[in-house]
Amino acid sequence: MNAPIGIFDSGIGGLTVANAISGVLPREQLIYFGDTAHLPYGDKSKELVRHYSEKITDYLIHDKGCKAVVIACNTASSAAYEFLRDKYRGVVPIISVIDPIIEAIVEDDTIHHVGLIATKATIASGVYQEKLQRRKPDIRYAPLATPLLVPMIEEGFHNNNISHALIHNYLQNEALSHIDALILGCTHYIIVRKEIDEFYGGQVKLFDSTHIVANKLKKILEKEGLLSEGRLKNDEFLLSDYTEAFAKTARMFYGHEIKLVRKDIWNE
Ligand code: DGL
Repeated sequence: MNAPIGIFDSGIGGLTVANAISGVLPREQLIYFGDTAHLPYGDKSKELVRHYSEKITDYLIHDKGCKAVVIACNTASSAAYEFLRDKYRGVVPIISVIDPIIEAIVEDDTIHHVGLIATKATIASGVYQEKLQRRKPDIRYAPLATPLLVPMIEEGFHNNNISHALIHNYLQNEALSHIDALILGCTHYIIVRKEIDEFYGGQVKLFDSTHIVANKLKKILEKEGLLSEGRLKNDEFLLSDYTEAFAKTARMFYGHEIKLVRKDIWNE
């Protein structure tokens, strides 16, 4: 089916997921929505994040004709996934970034003690804990809110002394000692995955929502008969507010200038 796939996040983090999806599904057209006007989601209430997520999803489905929507944000997935899945059940598949990671951890017998770094809202939601413990009751779970990472990454601080110091400071926290796996529970953190891996010297397995989510999406599109037969249009990048940080990161991911369109869906 030659319709686009919608993807959204509060800002640049979801580009990591979009990039992985383009790798796994090169024939699909993506419409990316970065809700930069409301960034960060991680400090907001569940009700507000759900309200933003619903508005964006409605727009992607009704105005842009998307055949599937990927919530490329852990905070929005924890606040709104079940609600949106039920709202669009039988109409359009909605994909969260949390459930595919849970599945991957449940299937991996080598993991007994898993850490989670995420925004304050994702940690406070308890969604990872609840889903992990329901599927793998013996697992030990160590959550840590790392709220400074999103503004740091949005401001373009990665692979430098500042990101190094902040990442080390967070990961040295007692709560994360003795873990054998770590979930990067925010799509922004994937941009500093290499620095996190270096901290652990490759000794802790890292889970993020790039390939795991892209492969899950592929399976769902195959099952529902929704794969595109051929690519017709270029990807679109819509932002609720233009930010230089977004433009810079998009350039970094795609290796060339990306056309960004400002789209204020709240005041139209
Ligand atoms: N990238 C988002 C996530 O995965 C959150 C960033 C934010 O706080 O806005 O949780």
